[in-house]
Amino acid sequence: MLSSSTTCGLLKDLYKLFVADTLFTPQTFLFPYRSVLQVMKHLVSSWCNDRSLPESYILPPEKRPGKLTVPLANKIPVIDLGGHDQTDIIQQIFEASQEFGFFQVINHGVPSNLMDEAMSVFKEFHALSAKDKAIETSKDPNKSCFIYTSSPNYATEKFHFWRDGLMHHCNPLEKYIQFWPEKPPRYREVVGPYTTEVRKLGFRILEFISQGLGISPDHFSSGLSENQTLLVNHYPPCPDPSLTLGVGKHRDPGGINILLQSDVYGLQVFNDEEWVGVEPIPYAFVVNIGYPLQIISNGKLKGAEHRVVTNSNVARTTASLFINPSSETLVEPAKALIDASNPALYKSLTYKDFLSKYIAASSDSKALEEVLSTTL
Ligand code: OGA
Ligand code: NI
Repeated sequence: MLSSSTTCGLLKDLYKLFVADTLFTPQTFLFPYRSVLQVMKHLVSSWCNDRSLPESYILPPEKRPGKLTVPLANKIPVIDLGGHDQTDIIQQIFEASQEFGFFQVINHGVPSNLMDEAMSVFKEFHALSAKDKAIETSKDPNKSCFIYTSSPNYATEKFHFWRDGLMHHCNPLEKYIQFWPEKPPRYREVVGPYTTEVRKLGFRILEFISQGLGISPDHFSSGLSENQTLLVNHYPPCPDPSLTLGVGKHRDPGGINILLQSDVYGLQVFNDEEWVGVEPIPYAFVVNIGYPLQIISNGKLKGAEHRVVTNSNVARTTASLFINPSSETLVEPAKALIDASNPALYKSLTYKDFLSKYIAASSDSKALEEVLSTTL
């Protein structure tokens, strides 16, 4: 229950909102309008054209990008899924997941015109007015679709990142599509089939990964891959890319991520003690292993650290489709990989508990490793 003083405060705010801001509509009435309004004000794309880099975006020296141009070096493997030698594909995916935790796939079966159309509507969404973005992401009281800036912890974080993100659930589609944006007008019509196709690709890759690990090919087919979330990132041109980042160093908390990069460079992976750039390849997807897969594979696969650098010339838009466990599903080393000489290196946790530990450790990967490991 709200106390009467809080209720009064809320009503006052509502009143102010009603008279002062046309954002107030029946659609937004029931939602946490206060946070929606605050987010809109802070979206990087709402103010970035008029200002130099605000102090709150300047990272401490040790967290800054350092060298902005790092070797692209084609180090991250590009795997052709169109080939007929399935054993070879499985081997390539396994080796890339082991060594880098990252690879790109081509000839993956997702139609290129669908990729183009999806990227267009993603860009159009981020080009909407702040008011439209607020309305279009406020349709679900349970917030299965929302917008944020920097990170979901904007209000409490010490510094901010140069990124706006639209996030929504995708599976089951019939349940969630009603809460997705209706502006741009083709959003649902294009993103529905897009997420369905990319999800299929994700399941194929998970099957290859389980075959590479030597566990049952359907190991990932139920609870471990039940949830899918789309995150549409937008990084406007930045006044000083040397002082900030689009996304700080992190490992993904989901199972795998199938990322559509635009043609603009920005993603870097930490490998062999150095940052390596992931080259944008037309119509490829970047695939990366999240932390839960490192656990399930008992440390055989790598949930690699990565980050996003900004640039001062062009906006960059990307879309991550995360395939995640459901909250009550146990994330633990696959039994088939454990025996007397291969003990479990990670504790068994529900995905919900894993996530709370992940969030509590913030981006301190050593601290996280310590709470999840059975040996440290
Ligand atoms: C992410 C991520 C990379 C990018 O969404 O977790 O790392 O290039 N995105 O936008
Ligand atoms: Ni990531």
